[in-house]
Amino acid sequence: MEKITISVIKADIGGYVGHSSMHPNILTNAMQSLEKVKGKGMIVDFHVTHCGDDLDLIITHRLGENAGDIHKLAWDIFLDCTDIAKELKLYGAGQDLLSDAFAGNVKGMGPGVAEMTIEERKSEPVIIFAADKTSPGSWNFPLYKMFADPFNTIGLVIDPSMHDGFSFDVLDVFDNKTVMLNCPEDMYDLLVLIGASEHYIIKGIHKKSGEIAAVTSTQKVNLMAGRYVGKDDPVMIVRCQSGLPAVGEVLEPFSMSYMVTGWMRGSHWGPFMPVSVADAHPTRFDGPPRVIALGFQLCNGTLIGPRDMFADPSYDLARQQANEVANYIRRHGPFEPQRLPLSDMEYTTLPQVLKKLKGKFK
Ligand code: F6R
Ligand code: MG
Ligand code: MG
Repeated sequence: MEKITISVIKADIGGYVGHSSMHPNILTNAMQSLEKVKGKGMIVDFHVTHCGDDLDLIITHRLGENAGDIHKLAWDIFLDCTDIAKELKLYGAGQDLLSDAFAGNVKGMGPGVAEMTIEERKSEPVIIFAADKTSPGSWNFPLYKMFADPFNTIGLVIDPSMHDGFSFDVLDVFDNKTVMLNCPEDMYDLLVLIGASEHYIIKGIHKKSGEIAAVTSTQKVNLMAGRYVGKDDPVMIVRCQSGLPAVGEVLEPFSMSYMVTGWMRGSHWGPFMPVSVADAHPTRFDGPPRVIALGFQLCNGTLIGPRDMFADPSYDLARQQANEVANYIRRHGPFEPQRLPLSDMEYTTLPQVLKKLKGKFK
């Protein structure tokens, strides 16, 4: 069986209105471009979606990860869509495209990427998550719950094909080094790192046999650009079932609206709200941060779906909790812990204001 690669490539190429959502013309343009390419056979299938002001291209193909042709395809679509955004004077047109010229791979150029190459199983359920107004570290908590916490994933306890646990690849975003930690053996070491989710980010998870289970986008836009250009609004791909967490175990961590960094001006802690695509428009205080989950059954690379997994009343309480937590923490206004600690504000616009004050200290 020929291997199939799933590439999820995303960028904020302009918001409608402000940073809150995506203009329909942009989605249509991206779909039409991918439809043309699909007709020529370069890709197997695609789905275009958005979470807030981020355009997410989900593409299946046989060219492997980091394929120049696929990355160029996405880059060209982002450029085309930026032209539309400019025509309509949408907000922050081309915001995530940090370079004028394509250099062979979109990594390091602004867009976020999560890719995995798999041998499609007899049945291959995958869930693609996309977020807005937050950073890649926001996947640490749910990934830990899905793949290491028996209180979330009963399969770790009672399914012999999961009982061995999983391996986690963790990236130190400041040192650009990775470490592999196994669970349950290295669970406490893993938590030492990933509990600091602005510093250590889970990049990928494997079965102990080596089979890939989950991948995330880990591009740190702020660090790449050396200045604040928006939060990273990450994506992630998770395979489910048959020796991997069940669909319900993969979704269960989002039944609590846990806290993530981002929200207004990428400078606040806020509750992560699981929503349907129809509700993926962060508005209140530019938030609260949103997450969508699209489920697909792969069929020889064709994306059967999506099912909008959070369009489900069983997440109503998480959404209500998000609203209640938002109310509470918002009352702190510019005070921590609503505002991020100074160390995390380094790449925001705050240092410019601090600089002005410097001379006044006696
Ligand atoms: C956060 C985000 C928004 C903006 C805010 C200010 O990721 O995108 O909260 O930071 O709307 O935007 P500017 O500086 O463009 O006016
Ligand atoms: Mg934006
Ligand atoms: Mg965004």
